[in-house]
Amino acid sequence: MLNMKMMVAAPLVVLSLSIVLFPIFNTYPFLRNWGWTRQVADLLVINGTIYTSDSSLPFADSMAVRNGRILRIGDYSSVQALAGYGTEYINLQGRIVVPGFIDSHVHFLSGGLQMARVELRKANTKEKFVEIVKAAAKNMEHGSWILGGGWNNDFWGGELPMATWIDDITENNPVWLSRMDGHMGLANSLALEIAGVTKNIEDPIGGTVVRNTGGEPTGLLIDSAMKLVLSCIPEVSKDDRRKALERASNLALMRGVTTVVDFGRYFPGTSVELPWEDLTDVYRWADIYGKMKIRVCLFFPMRTWQRLVDLIGQTGRKLSQWIYLGGVKDFSDGSLGSSSALFYKAYAEEPHNYGLQVTNIDDLLNSTISSDKFNLQVAIHAIGDRANGMILDMYTSVVATNGMRDRRFRIEHAQHLAPGAAAKFGQHHIVASVQPDHLLDDAESAIKKLGLERAQEGSYMFKSLLNSDAVLAFGSDWPVADINPLSSIKTAMERIPPGWENGWITTERISLPEALNASTILAAKACFLDKDVGSLSTGKMADFVVLMNDSWEGFAEHGYGSIAATYVGGRQAYIRNI
Ligand SMILES: *[C@@H]1O[C@H](CO)[C@@H](O)[C@H](O)[C@H]1NC(C)=O
Ligand SMILES: *[C@@H]1O[C@H](CO)[C@@H](O)[C@H](O)[C@H]1NC(C)=O
Ligand SMILES: *[C@@H]1O[C@H](CO)[C@@H](O)[C@H](O)[C@H]1NC(C)=O
Ligand SMILES: *[C@@H]1O[C@H](CO)[C@@H](O)[C@H](O)[C@H]1NC(C)=O
Ligand SMILES: [Zn+2]
Repeated sequence: MLNMKMMVAAPLVVLSLSIVLFPIFNTYPFLRNWGWTRQVADLLVINGTIYTSDSSLPFADSMAVRNGRILRIGDYSSVQALAGYGTEYINLQGRIVVPGFIDSHVHFLSGGLQMARVELRKANTKEKFVEIVKAAAKNMEHGSWILGGGWNNDFWGGELPMATWIDDITENNPVWLSRMDGHMGLANSLALEIAGVTKNIEDPIGGTVVRNTGGEPTGLLIDSAMKLVLSCIPEVSKDDRRKALERASNLALMRGVTTVVDFGRYFPGTSVELPWEDLTDVYRWADIYGKMKIRVCLFFPMRTWQRLVDLIGQTGRKLSQWIYLGGVKDFSDGSLGSSSALFYKAYAEEPHNYGLQVTNIDDLLNSTISSDKFNLQVAIHAIGDRANGMILDMYTSVVATNGMRDRRFRIEHAQHLAPGAAAKFGQHHIVASVQPDHLLDDAESAIKKLGLERAQEGSYMFKSLLNSDAVLAFGSDWPVADINPLSSIKTAMERIPPGWENGWITTERISLPEALNASTILAAKACFLDKDVGSLSTGKMADFVVLMNDSWEGFAEHGYGSIAATYVGGRQAYIRNI
């Protein structure tokens, strides 16, 4: 029986115990889980095959979640001990769980905008192209712009589209349809007229107005010539960009993506960048109103580095659990698709074309040194072997100038590498932010443009990069390719382009765990988010994906999984309708 004295004393005992135990808990956090200070799980995920991407415990069958983070992961009995009043259960029935995927390179709002526009990715003949545009024109008000893209003339034998293909079905609407790689686009005659693109116009520097034999523009505009038409298209409204974020987020979640690294929008002109207004008008707005569904890490144009330094000085890198300020991005070359990726040797079919260096190297060096001095992470687009070599050398000289630190320089795409370049990535643990699914579209054109041997020598060097200690991070470059990590993973494992019987450069194939790593933990390291996401480890966010599949061996052999549900911070964000 309790007497009065004990009742008064009890709280004092608890108080003094916590004074004693608090420092002990800080030193030995696992002691917190003792019964009487036990934290009850909100959610127990049990009875599955959980791949953690954490080498201290690669597989588990159960995990406990509390307040959106992983409280414990391991075997059923250790996790069951955290059940209590109100704990919910997910019985996986043997299904595979993997960490939420991180897509290391997207143009998120462009993707979301494009979802509501003309989608020409599926056009594999001229007739299909015309049919898709015709269907879109039907629903449009007179005078409004028909916008879209995703076409690839390689899908129908290479013939470039012309305004005459679509003029008679789009008489009342100006049209702009960009090629899949964003380096050229097709305008109809009405759009050319609005933009003042006539026979007499000169090619702008860094661009081409494609003309027929009579000198008349065909409707096709390349690189900086696209600006002529793009500058006439009204800017997308705030409301449209907000809707684009929602569409993009829902699609990403459906594909198991819980974090994206956003490099911004395709902008009027040839620039691709994250405008600061998108941070305030779209991302912060969505955050304030509780509308963020996936985590985003944002890279801003390098020339605005000072602004990012100032903002991080005020807020830190983490604006909330949803928005991280990543770093700064710039370009060194163009793309393979438009023969503007920069190579040491000329393009096979164009003996005078080595590609385009789009930014002066001294300017790049200057802004990289400055950004790096203020601890910003730097990412630079490089596709051709020479662009990659140039940036690797530049990064080396920045390290020499600013000194050693954990800076995780990034190269976006790292598509074609000269012998020895993969090793250079490894020396400074440089992030190779690659897009496996580009390989599916590129294999044939790389062989055509570079020649069989050169293409074979250094394209999509995933295994070499991994072996060299580079940080290999997978992304999609959505909307250039579909946002679909399970597809990237399969592609990296097999390297079989459509219509091919065998793989392309099979020595560069990687295993399922390696490919999963590149889509999770390595991708998290690649943007300094590995304290919060990237693996299913105690203390990290409970971002995970449940697959339909229950055989790890089957998954590891064939690489093709399918998504049943996606959880962000322990909450179900997508579930497949069965
Ligand atoms: C665990 O899943 C298997 C299917 O893989 C099922 O047969 C079994 O009943 C489940 N166990 C529990 C405790 O629910
Ligand atoms: C970069 O260029 C600016 C302007 O020319 C100059 O003031 C600055 O010192 C340069 N920074 C570095 C790191 O070289
Ligand atoms: C996956 O990444 C972790 C952490 O970097 C590493 O310890 C592990 O060896 C990797 N697994 C494979 C198969 O590469
Ligand atoms: C995974 O499950 C999906 C849907 O049930 C199925 O189509 C696919 O073939 C499975 N993958 C493997 C490797 O068994
Ligand atoms: Zn991109």
